[in-house]
Amino acid sequence: MAAELSAVRADITTLAVDAIVNAANGSLLGGGGVDGAIHRAAGPGLLAECREFGGCATGDAKITGGYRLPARFVIHTVGPVWRQGRANEPELLASCYRRSLELAASHGLRSIAFPGVGTGVYGYPAELAAGVAVETVRATLVRCPSIEQVVFCCFSADDLEVYTRLLADPHDRGAIR
Ligand code: AR6
Repeated sequence: MAAELSAVRADITTLAVDAIVNAANGSLLGGGGVDGAIHRAAGPGLLAECREFGGCATGDAKITGGYRLPARFVIHTVGPVWRQGRANEPELLASCYRRSLELAASHGLRSIAFPGVGTGVYGYPAELAAGVAVETVRATLVRCPSIEQVVFCCFSADDLEVYTRLLADPHDRGAIR
């Protein structure tokens, strides 16, 4: 069965999926944006578990429990800082989505929600990032049979519009069907 891809406008900390993805920094010790919101909602147990990793490389991902969140797990990934596209940003961002899905699949998870990794403080242009996100998720799902549902969680109406358009694009469907 093909996985269902959808876009919603929501605070990702409210989503009752198996895993939500956090747009973290390399320390994994919290920060602003969605990272701050996730740590606030999950409570101090999340930070304690994150400390044990000793950080995370850009483009990689680590999995922890969800603590007080409705999501059972949090997958922390570190997006690239946008440098006008001259520092391998598309490949690094694609790696964030790929590694997150691979981790979810290796834990047998069925549903996962992503924020717009890299598109806030790190400055990755939202529309370019959404293209990388959708393309990478479609390509990676072929290897992740446990995953039934992928949600692109948008914080703004503009982001929701971009994802809704990308997901409706018939030229992109072939990869997972
Ligand atoms: N739910 C869903 N999306 C959100 C939420 C939320 N509660 N809050 C923000 N967003 P950012 P980055 C969106 O800056 O660019 C942190 O300090 C936001 O609108 O959170 O990867 C980390 O510690 C944007 O679309 O992450 C790092 O230091 C997206 O989430 C750094 O920021 C990502 O914005 C990472 O920067």
